[in-house]
Amino acid sequence: MIRSNVSVATQFAGLQLQSCIYNASGPWCTTKKELMDIGQSAAGAIITKSCTLLAREGNPTPRYFENNLGSINSMGLPNKGYQYYQSIAEEITAKFQKPYIVSVSGLSLENNMRILESLQTQKNIAAIELNLSCPNVVGKAQTAYDFPQVVKVLRAIAPLNKIPIGIKLPPYFDFIHFQEMAAIINQYPIAFVTCVNSIGNGLLIDIEKEAVVIQPKGGFGGIGGDYIKPTALANVCKFRELLRADISVIGCGGIKTGQDVFEHLLCGADAVQIGTQFMSEKATCFKRIVNELQHLMQKKGYHSIADFKGKLIQA
Ligand code: SIN
Repeated sequence: MIRSNVSVATQFAGLQLQSCIYNASGPWCTTKKELMDIGQSAAGAIITKSCTLLAREGNPTPRYFENNLGSINSMGLPNKGYQYYQSIAEEITAKFQKPYIVSVSGLSLENNMRILESLQTQKNIAAIELNLSCPNVVGKAQTAYDFPQVVKVLRAIAPLNKIPIGIKLPPYFDFIHFQEMAAIINQYPIAFVTCVNSIGNGLLIDIEKEAVVIQPKGGFGGIGGDYIKPTALANVCKFRELLRADISVIGCGGIKTGQDVFEHLLCGADAVQIGTQFMSEKATCFKRIVNELQHLMQKKGYHSIADFKGKLIQA
């Protein structure tokens, strides 16, 4: 039940969201039907599956597994190709009063440039999230762990300024890496960063079978869910501290409840994305989590997320 005196609205990169909670690029956002389902839900925005130049089948199955602590995936970017997500932008935005964001994960800088140049001409696309952190393409390293390559990418995309561009980062684990990456990002016109993608190249094991649980890459894949919440919070908190004030931080990682959202916002997130929980609970999760967040805010006497966003006490 939406409480009218408690607003969970937010804004970032010039976008207005009635709810600060929306889907992570990953589960249930590949087809128009899935994106429409997100549109109909209580999600504050709609983001697509990361798209490539051409459609991809992705990695062999089984490529996703979850237990009570989280998930492992090695999807390998199955998607319908960027032109599909561009072509449905008008229909989706005509139907839903919420921002439509396209996630892009081209397999090379040249591919990304072609995709971004084309998407920039589409007025119904509210923002682009450039995914520099997919751990699951065989033979391709995660761009955002290669700092000189990140500089190359950000320099190349800098002139593309018709639609706000954000970047999706992998988790970092050392203060020196937070500092180096933030110093790079701060030099470019990046509108937001999404922290974090799954923790790359983890392993989950089936003890009965004494085997890995997914097929690609010998069972190695990106870890999500409860396993990663402390890492996600640390990345949100550190990037909020180190980035220019005009660069928004979108939190992602381990969000199942309104309390988890509250923690991400407290660390400085302007909005949050739901991945693993959306995968299992589908689009009904957004309304439940909004309600839980509103309930918590009401209990604490907060009326808007500005009342506590970024106010984590670190005495
Ligand atoms: C995938 O499709 O492999 C997941 C995307 C990602 O982790 O960036």
